[in-house]
Amino acid sequence: MAQSVTLPSEQQYNYEVIRKFTIMAVVWGVIGMCVGLYIALELAFPHLNLDLPWLTFGRLRPVHTTLVIFGFGGSVLFATSYYVVQRTCQARLAFPLLAEFTFWGWTAGVGLGALSYMAGITQGREYAEFEWPLDIAITLVWVSYLSIYVATLLRRNQPHIYVANWFYLAFILTVAILHIFNNLAVPVSLTKSYSLFSGVQDAMTQWWYGHNAVGFFLTAAFLGMMYYFVPKQAGRPIYSYRLSIIHFWALIFLYMWAGGHHLHWTALPDWVSTLSATFSILLLLPSWGGMINGIMTLSGAWDKLRSDPIMLFLITSLSFYGMSTFEGPLMSLKSVNALSHYTDWTIGHVHSGALGWVALVSFGSIYHLFPRLFNTRLYSQTLIYVHFWLATIGIVLYITAMWVAGIGQGLMLRGFDQYGNLAYTFTETVEFLHTPYVWRAIGGAFFVVGVFVMVYNLVMTLVAARREEAALQAKLAAKLARA
Ligand code: HEM
Ligand code: HEM
Repeated sequence: MAQSVTLPSEQQYNYEVIRKFTIMAVVWGVIGMCVGLYIALELAFPHLNLDLPWLTFGRLRPVHTTLVIFGFGGSVLFATSYYVVQRTCQARLAFPLLAEFTFWGWTAGVGLGALSYMAGITQGREYAEFEWPLDIAITLVWVSYLSIYVATLLRRNQPHIYVANWFYLAFILTVAILHIFNNLAVPVSLTKSYSLFSGVQDAMTQWWYGHNAVGFFLTAAFLGMMYYFVPKQAGRPIYSYRLSIIHFWALIFLYMWAGGHHLHWTALPDWVSTLSATFSILLLLPSWGGMINGIMTLSGAWDKLRSDPIMLFLITSLSFYGMSTFEGPLMSLKSVNALSHYTDWTIGHVHSGALGWVALVSFGSIYHLFPRLFNTRLYSQTLIYVHFWLATIGIVLYITAMWVAGIGQGLMLRGFDQYGNLAYTFTETVEFLHTPYVWRAIGGAFFVVGVFVMVYNLVMTLVAARREEAALQAKLAAKLARA
C-alpha cells in the first residue's frame, strides 16, 4: 500500500488550518462579491428585489459587507497571519486544536450572521450587525486567536519579531477591544438586544468602532500582509525597516482619534469634529510612508512589474492604498464632507480602498501562498494577468461612476435657484443616479468575472497538485515494492 509523503515544511509548520482559511476566503469572496453585484443591480433596477423581504437591498447590504469584510478579508487575514507568524518566527503554530476552533468558529459565525440578516435579525450597527449570541461566540474565537498568536510569538526561534507581526498583533488586540465595547448591550430575547449607550454617545461609540474597523481590520492587518508578501515576492528586503517602525507607531497612535469624521455636522460637539479632522489629515503621513516603503521595495527591480503578475497585484494595491488615504483625509475636512456625506462619493472612497487596496493585496498574497501551501506551481500565469486587468478595469469603472454619482448628487442637493429655493427635487437627484449606477454594476461585473478566473486557476492548480502527488506516491510505492 502506498504511504503518504510528509514534506519537511509540514513537519515544521501547521499548514492545514491555513489551507482551510485560504479556501474559505475564496469561497466567501465569491459569494460576498456576487451579492455586492446583485445589490448594485438592485440600486439601478429596484424590481430585482422580486418583492421578497429577504432579497431587499436593506437586508442584502449587510450580507455583502459582512461576507466581504469578515468572510473574505477575515479569512485571508487568519490564513496569512498564521503563515507569517510561523515563517518569521520559525516556530510551529501554538495550540493546534484551538487553531481548528478559530477556523470552524469564524466560518460558522460569518455564515450564521449572513443568514440572520436575511431573516431580518440585526443590531442595526454598521459592520457590527451580529446579534448578541453571535457576538459572544465571535469573542471566544477572537480570544483564542490572540492566545495562539501570542503563544506562537513566545515560542519563536528568532530573537527578532518581524514588523509584519506587529501590525497583525495590533489588529488582533484592537479588534478585540472595539468588538467588546461597541457590542455592550442588554439582551431582551435570543434575537434582540439594546445598546448600552444612547444618543450621541451611542453614535460616537459606533463610529469609534466603525472607523477603527477600517483602520485596524481593513488597514493595519493588510499592511502586515504587505510587509511580508511584497518583500517575499520581490525577493528583496523591505526598503526601509526604520520607516516601517515609524509607520507602525504613527498609524496606531493616529487612527484611534479620527472616528468623529463620520459624524460631522451632527449633534457631536464641534470640537470633537475638528479634532477628528485634524487627526485624519495627520494620517496621510504614515499612510503614505507605508505606501512608499512598500513600493520602493521594488527599487532596482522594477522589471518585475513586467514579468511577474503577482507583483502587479501587490504594487497596484499599494497605489490604491495611497489614493484612498489621500481621498480620506480630504473627505474628513468639514467643508468637503458637507458635500460628500450622504452621497455615493463615500461609496466610491470605500471601494477604492476595499477593492483597490484590500482585495488586490489579498489576491496577490493568495497567489503567492497557494502553490506554497499545496507544494505545487500555479496552473497559469496568463490567467493571473487576465484577472489583474479585469479587476483593475472593474475598479476604475466602479470608482469613477461613484465620483460622478456622488459629486453630482452632492451639487444637486445644494443647488439653489435665483429665488433661494432648492433647484432640484430629491426625486430628480435619484433619477440622475441611474446611469452611474449602471456603470458601477458593469465595473462590479468585471471585478466578479476576474474573481471567477482566479477560482478556475486555483482549482486547476489543485487538480494538477493532486495528480503530481498521486504520481509521487506511485513512484514511492514502486520503490518500496522493489526494496
Ligand atoms: C464585486 C465587487 C463589489 C461590488 C459590485 C460591490 C457593491 C456594493 C454596493 C452596491 C454597496 C452598497 C452601496 C450603497 O449603500 O449605496 C456596497 C457597500 C459596501 N461594500 Fe461593496 N462591492 C464589491 C466589493 C466589495 C469588497 C471586496 C469590499 C471589502 C473588502 C466591499 C466593502 C463594502 C463596504 C464596506 C460597503 C459599505 C459602504 C458604506 O456604507 O459606506 N465591497 N458594495
Ligand atoms: C488616511 C486614511 C483615511 C481617512 C482619513 C479616511 C477618511 C474617511 C472619511 C472622512 C469618510 C467619510 C465619512 C462620512 O462622511 O460618513 C470615510 C468613509 C469610509 N472609509 Fe475611509 N479614510 C481613510 C482610508 C480608508 C481606507 C484605506 C479604507 C478601506 C480599506 C477606508 C474605508 C472607508 C469606509 C468603509 C468608509 C464608509 C464608512 C461608512 O459610512 O459606512 N478608508 N473615510
